[in-house]
Parts: sequence; C-alpha cells; structure tokens
Amino acid sequence: MTNNVYGIDLGTCNMKIYCKATNKILNEKNTIALVNKDQIYAYGDDAYAMYEKAPEEIQVTFPVAGGVIADLNNLQNMLQIYLEKNLKGKMRGAEFIVAVPTDITEVEKKAFFDIFYRSRLKPKSVLLCEKPIADAVGLGLDVNEPTGVMVVDIGADTTEISVISLGGLVLSDLLHAGGNRIDESIITYVKRKYNLVIGQKTAQGMKENLGSGIAGNKESMVVVGRDLVSGLPIEKEMTGEVVYEAIKDNLNTICNSIKMILEKTPPELAKDIIHSGIYITGGSSQIHDLDQLFTSITGIRINTCEEPEECVVRGLVKIVSDNKFRHLAYSMRSRILI
Ligand SMILES: Nc1ncnc2c1ncn2[C@@H]1O[C@H](COP(=O)(O)OP(=O)(O)OP(=O)(O)O)[C@@H](O)[C@H]1O
Ligand SMILES: [Mg+2]
Repeated sequence: MTNNVYGIDLGTCNMKIYCKATNKILNEKNTIALVNKDQIYAYGDDAYAMYEKAPEEIQVTFPVAGGVIADLNNLQNMLQIYLEKNLKGKMRGAEFIVAVPTDITEVEKKAFFDIFYRSRLKPKSVLLCEKPIADAVGLGLDVNEPTGVMVVDIGADTTEISVISLGGLVLSDLLHAGGNRIDESIITYVKRKYNLVIGQKTAQGMKENLGSGIAGNKESMVVVGRDLVSGLPIEKEMTGEVVYEAIKDNLNTICNSIKMILEKTPPELAKDIIHSGIYITGGSSQIHDLDQLFTSITGIRINTCEEPEECVVRGLVKIVSDNKFRHLAYSMRSRILI
C-alpha cells in the first residue's frame, strides 16, 4: 500500500477527487476556460463562473462529454495543475483509482487510465473501477453478497441504471440523458411558450428550485431572459407547473429505462430489489419528488442519500481502504498485457 491514494470521479459537470493524505473530497466544476484554443486561462469553479459570460477570445469548455473524455490533453493539463495546487498530498508514487462508466468502448476506458498513467504525476499505479459498483459501495452496501441491488445514477449528461450482485454488474444501461438534457428542455419550452430566451444557468436554477417529479408544484420564481419580440431583457415569473411540463418527458424516458431493466432482471434478483428498494444517486436525483414518480411507475420503494453527487467517490475511498473491496478495482495495464 502506498502513502497516498487519490479517488477520482470525472463527471461531465463536476469532478470529484478524494485525497487520502488530507482525507478531503474536492468537488469542482469540470470546466476549463481556454485562450488561443490550448492555453488554460482558468479551470474548475472559476472557469464555470465565466460560462455564458466570457468574451469571444475566451472559450469555456467541458472536457468530459456524455460521460467520456472528449478533450484529453486539456483535461490532463487541468488535472495536473489542479492536483499539484489544491491537493498537495504526496503526489509522486501515489495510487490513483478512477471510476469509469459502463457501456463505453475499451478505447474510451483507456483514456481514463492514460490521463493519469501517462502524466507527470508519476503514479505508482492506476486502477479503474466500474462507476455503478463504486456507487453501491458508496451507499454503504456490501456488493460482494449474492444479493441483487439496483442503482440509478442520474448525473449531468448520463443516467446509469445497473443491477449488481456478487461484486459484478448483472445488467446495465447507460442513457445519454441527465441534468443537462433537462436544462435544455426547460430552455426550449420557455422559448416556445413565452418567447423568452434564458441561459443555461437560469434553466438550472429553475430546475433546482421548482423542478418536481409530480405535477402540482405551485411555487414560483422570477427569472430574467431576452424577450424575442422586443429584443430586450425582461423579468418573468415562472411556476413549478411550467418546469414540470418542460421536464416531464425527460423524466419519463428515465422511468421507461428503469422499467425495461426491471423486466430483464432475473426473478431471484428482482425479489431482492423489491425487498431493499431502488437506490438513486447523482446530482439530478435531487429533483423534488423524483422518488414518488419512480415508485408510482415501478411499484418499488426508492432510497435516496445525502450528497448524492459524491456517492461514487465515497465508494472509491472505501474500495481502496478496505481489503474486502479492493478486488473491485482492476488495472487496465494488466488487461492490456494479457
Ligand atoms: N438540487 C438539485 N436539483 C436538481 N438537480 C441538481 C441539483 N443539484 C445538482 N443538480 C444537477 O446535477 C447534475 C450534476 O450531478 P453530478 O455531479 O452527479 O453529475 P456528473 O457526475 O458531473 O455527470 P455524469 O455522471 O453524467 O458524467 C447537474 O446537471 C446539476 O444541474
Ligand atoms: Mg457522475
């Protein structure tokens, strides 16, 4: 066992990094502001603050898209600067454990390995772990048991629905749907219905404050957008009903996929899932009353958790520090050599 371990969950919206030496979890926006296409101007939360506000010469980019690495070089640079500056724990010779989505290609998976293995951080080893498995461990579940567990991680660009038993994935589905798609639906709906153009951060605020899995939310908030008729910025009151109408199709897509996975689940595992309930994690699982919606569709109880965005990285921490779970992490290098 090395001196230090870093647990890494590179999400589309947020990167979550655990440093064993400092025993801290850092949660920052996975965003880079670039000048001249490849020079890092700002990164993390600072870069995100510039999103939709930066002048033309600064490009604010998201190096992870659809759950996979879209811009390896810039992401690697950001992580190196970021780790060296913010997580000063013993970097050299440290062990990295990186969560990877299911249903991605070996090439996409290798990028998660290379970004650390081929970096100036000089790690002792880089291990990978399937995201849903880390998620379940982060929920405090003993995934080694011969018991079926269903985890639904609703993130920013992806929703992963998985059935786990005996430390492995029995079934899984990676949907390209999550919080970002929901924000886009709100933008489109508000534009069509009110001739009002709003930004993504405003849509996100509407989703977080007024979004609900069931109809009938009477709360409201005032938003600012550009009126398409006059061309001028105006204020407008938006209600929970508006947000519900905008996002209900997105939520139904997730419901239908959960149902499809349940239909394919072997009966003995389905029995366990009915008994323990379905677990929902990821930032977008915080949409109000999502549990009620899912229960009404599946007939199964829904379990939520505290700080669901950090569930995967909490699982990585346990996997590296508890011998009982260490076999859940594997080395891409040994796979390649075999
Ligand atoms: N209170 C909230 N209500 C609804 N949605 C929320 C809330 N807080 C955060 N979110 C949404 O959660 C998403 C981010 O969650 P998370 O950090 O789990 O995603 P990610 O891991 O970066 O993405 P992915 O797993 O898809 O790559 C964003 O779309 C954000 O808008
Ligand atoms: Mg995620």
